[in-house]
Amino acid sequence: MAILESSKPAKTVHPGQTIGILGGGQLGRMMALEAKAMGYRIAVLDPQPDCPCAQVADTHIVAPYTDVSAAEELGRQSDVVTYEFENVDANVTARLCECSYVPQGASLLHTTQHRVREKRALQAAGVPIADYREVTTLQGLRQAAKELGLPAVLKTSAGGYDGKGQWRLTAEDDLGLLWSSIAAAQTIPGRHGTTKRVEEAPFIMERLIPFERELSVMVARSPRGEMTVFPVAENIHVHHILHMSIVPARVDAETARRAQEIAKQIAESLCVVGVLGVEMFLTRDGQILVNELAPRPHNSGHYTQNACSTSQFEQHVRAICNLPLGDVKLWSPVVMVNVLGQHLPSVLTHLKHWPAHWKLHLYGKAEAKRNRKMGHVNVLCDDLEDGLEQIKYAGIW
Ligand SMILES: Nc1ncnc2c1ncn2[C@@H]1O[C@H](COP(=O)(O)OP(=O)(O)OP(=O)(O)O)[C@@H](O)[C@H]1O
Ligand SMILES: [Mg+2]
Repeated sequence: MAILESSKPAKTVHPGQTIGILGGGQLGRMMALEAKAMGYRIAVLDPQPDCPCAQVADTHIVAPYTDVSAAEELGRQSDVVTYEFENVDANVTARLCECSYVPQGASLLHTTQHRVREKRALQAAGVPIADYREVTTLQGLRQAAKELGLPAVLKTSAGGYDGKGQWRLTAEDDLGLLWSSIAAAQTIPGRHGTTKRVEEAPFIMERLIPFERELSVMVARSPRGEMTVFPVAENIHVHHILHMSIVPARVDAETARRAQEIAKQIAESLCVVGVLGVEMFLTRDGQILVNELAPRPHNSGHYTQNACSTSQFEQHVRAICNLPLGDVKLWSPVVMVNVLGQHLPSVLTHLKHWPAHWKLHLYGKAEAKRNRKMGHVNVLCDDLEDGLEQIKYAGIW
């Protein structure tokens, strides 16, 4: 498949001009808030009338993400177009790159939409990743299990998030049974005998990494090649959803430096424009393995809003507008903790007693469903262990 790059030369987009955002969730909202503070106007495309970003945008095109003519309208209204999620429809990306200015291009999206393409790109960038095999058939699954050993993780190549589309495999599992249950729930190309030639495997199997910590690094790159890398975050997941990010990560300085170096290497290799989130595993023997990429601001970078000179959202705006990147100094240790639907009632009750260094961000979502990300709190602290204690005894999480 031909990949459309942003073939247009980089241009500088000035305050007063309009930034178009594809997707109106919390990431779009926080991008928009920073951009508005800098004097930009915001147009957003999202199917939901009162979505988080529309509440702070100047104009809102209410249409499905796959609507090419709505995307064209977004392009007409905007001097630069960006996105807040990676699963942008390929036709929409292609059309936007053609008829408007998308400095991030289509190639990075194409790569990060599919785990096989992403793994290959990471290998080409020369960074370490977990051993994996591509899986298309039951026979392939058995072979992968033999070669990698169990336990392992099977992941859908496209569309997974928050641990959805993942299966932990152990030596006790009946792979045939598992494969047919997955096949029943998914559309696996060629699963009945494989007459159909597919471009990339629909699944990958990874060796299960007994990691010591999960880390992430946000890196930003501008069209002129300027790069900044934010401090390393240590991430704690609960039920496959990010619960907390602890910054600076509790690792030695050399490990932190290596993690940042890896993120920069990837951003350079993939010619990233804007912000890129790089998720990593730190193993017990000190190895860093890259897990996956997010070609946009990332939940584990929300701490930057209150703890750094420049937030990841402002940095993203600066990068896509071709402005000089901001300073990324960390002013204070910080713990970011997510507010999910089930946490919101107690957050609202306890709010009046919170200390001044607890910074609440809410996304303006009407319905507080279970496990839905409603907001987050950045707990600024002098000492991380103290911050973690405060969260533990807050009676919310
Ligand atoms: N190979 C592995 N070994 C050990 N743990 C893993 C492995 N792959 C994934 N995990 C665990 O599952 C989590 C989710 O995996 P991953 O990031 O690949 O998927 P995801 O569903 O796209 O997640 P998200 O979109 O929320 O970041 C990881 O953060 C990690 O805790
Ligand atoms: Mg992940």
